[in-house]
Amino acid sequence: MKIGGTVKNGDIISDCNCFKQAVINETYKKSNISKLDEENFSTFDIGFYSNKVDKQRYGIDKSPRENIEHIKNISKEFASNIDNANQKNLLFIGNTGLGKTFLSNAIAKFVMDNAKTVMYETAPVLMDKVIEYKYSYDKEGKKKEQYNDIFDVDLLIIDDLGTETMSNNKFTELFNIINTRLLNNKKIVISTNLTLNELYKQYDERVMSRLIGNFVICKFVGDDIRLKKKRIN
Ligand SMILES: Nc1ncnc2c1ncn2[C@@H]1O[C@H](COP(=O)(O)OP(=O)(O)O)[C@@H](O)[C@H]1O
Ligand SMILES: [Mg+2]
Repeated sequence: MKIGGTVKNGDIISDCNCFKQAVINETYKKSNISKLDEENFSTFDIGFYSNKVDKQRYGIDKSPRENIEHIKNISKEFASNIDNANQKNLLFIGNTGLGKTFLSNAIAKFVMDNAKTVMYETAPVLMDKVIEYKYSYDKEGKKKEQYNDIFDVDLLIIDDLGTETMSNNKFTELFNIINTRLLNNKKIVISTNLTLNELYKQYDERVMSRLIGNFVICKFVGDDIRLKKKRIN
């Protein structure tokens, strides 16, 4: 998709913001993310993360707040370096309710606002779509375009990795997606509720070596923000 536009106005060539905005809106729609207004870097509240160091509870030497500040900075850096071949991808690890999806959405918005394309999919939906496409007779039209987007968008976000049902075909396709994108320097953000050990049990050596070698592993720690918010309301 071509992004950005110029209009000739006498001698002046200026950016046509309305066109740009229309393209951005279209990219937002295509990305599958509905919460871009609510979940972005400016609304990401680090106040939900405890500022107490508690190694026994959180398993790390710093407070959850210090930890998330660091991860937020890594995420901003990532989002602004989407085209840089030296920029590694991001693997978000941690229990449920710690802001992994929120931060992925924040990255997505930042990237799209810089006129880049993003696709967000949970692992179960993504893998079902891929398998359905691979084994369908109809490989033309919209389905083909959607399949190609998985490989072509500037940023692919795979959420909830590990919640998909497993099959050898899916492993092969998952490896193919990750590997092809890495080879083409197309960025990926993956989130999972599984620990690294659990990932090793679930995925084969090939997928794991790609994840370990090409991703910055960001471990989210803290207390379930979903529960905290429920208590407030
Ligand atoms: N830093 C944050 N500031 C404000 N709300 C947050 C933050 N992180 C998470 N939330 C909210 O908490 C809930 C769970 O966050 P989510 O990103 O879905 O967690 P995860 O993907 O790690 O399970 C959501 O309603 C989300 O909007
Ligand atoms: Mg999530």
